Amino acid sequence: MQRLHEILVRDGVERELRQVLGHVMIACKEIAHKLGQGELAGILGSTEAENVQGETQKMLDVISNDVLKNILINDEYVRGIGSEEEDYTVAGHKDGKFLVTFDPLDGSSNIDVNLSVGTIFSILEAPANGSGDDQSIFLQDGRKQVAAGYVLYGPSALLVLTTGKGVNFFTLDRHIGEFVLTKEQVKIPEDTKEFAINMSNQRFWEPGMQQYIADCLQGEEGPLGKRYNMRWVASMVAEVHRILVRGGIFMYPWDNREPGKPGKLRLMYEGNPMSMLVEQAGGLSTTARENIMDVQPEGIHQRVPVVLGSKNEVLKVMEYHK
Ligand code: AHG
Ligand code: MN
Ligand code: MN
Repeated sequence: MQRLHEILVRDGVERELRQVLGHVMIACKEIAHKLGQGELAGILGSTEAENVQGETQKMLDVISNDVLKNILINDEYVRGIGSEEEDYTVAGHKDGKFLVTFDPLDGSSNIDVNLSVGTIFSILEAPANGSGDDQSIFLQDGRKQVAAGYVLYGPSALLVLTTGKGVNFFTLDRHIGEFVLTKEQVKIPEDTKEFAINMSNQRFWEPGMQQYIADCLQGEEGPLGKRYNMRWVASMVAEVHRILVRGGIFMYPWDNREPGKPGKLRLMYEGNPMSMLVEQAGGLSTTARENIMDVQPEGIHQRVPVVLGSKNEVLKVMEYHK
């Protein structure tokens, strides 16, 4: 049995980063416990509040955010945090070496129906100067991430992590309360016949995306020459996990429902960490035109179109957008 901590030591991850990752995992174990309690603890359902993106917050969005925030801003190595559920970045320790951004609970529309959700996180190095409540120090492109991952709360709780040396899976052993290595150096198959997209937005997409999906639906008789299967969990963590396990393509493309917003998903909490994982597993992650990790962030809550997964299929989608 190899525990998370042992693997991080083996992979030469520095002590400070190990501590921060350890704290993220303590928070995730606490979130896993709370999710397991659900209705018993009276924590399902929505709050009265909206987050800065205008989305109604679930009680568990707020609880998960507080759990992560409280543990991380008290870590001496954390300069500050940025969260989907916080209007502004929050300062941690003034000399902290790292910045942590997170989506405390992804897929939270699934909470009340007892389906899979997750926590997504990304770790950057803090610059020499600047306080964690100044969002400008967070505005670094995804290539600068030193670690990224998610915890999927499904039938088992699973940590999927990269520190830049490939992607490993760790399953939470609830008896000993530790994440244990269960799969190493995961690779995404280069080809796939499975796509994931919210089809109800079809009429709002760009012509290139409309054409790609129209061609997928034609199956083996169409120009793509294969019969596709479709999945949509409405939980990006579950979607990306399926792709890491068996390949596939996931798309939340640009659409014109709200022309001011370039896509639904957020660059700093969803786009960048998932892109690092996908690329570390041999897949590709783009906006349909450029690599997501090359996008220079202009705001902590910035949104981005996302097309990621099996390399050859993502390249096809990019062709349709030329
Ligand atoms: P969140 O719950 O953090 O707001 O994120 C939900 C995201 C993502 O997980 C999922 O792929 C997508 O939104 C689902 O969107 P639709 O409800 O539009 O299908
Ligand atoms: Mn999310
Ligand atoms: Mn969320």
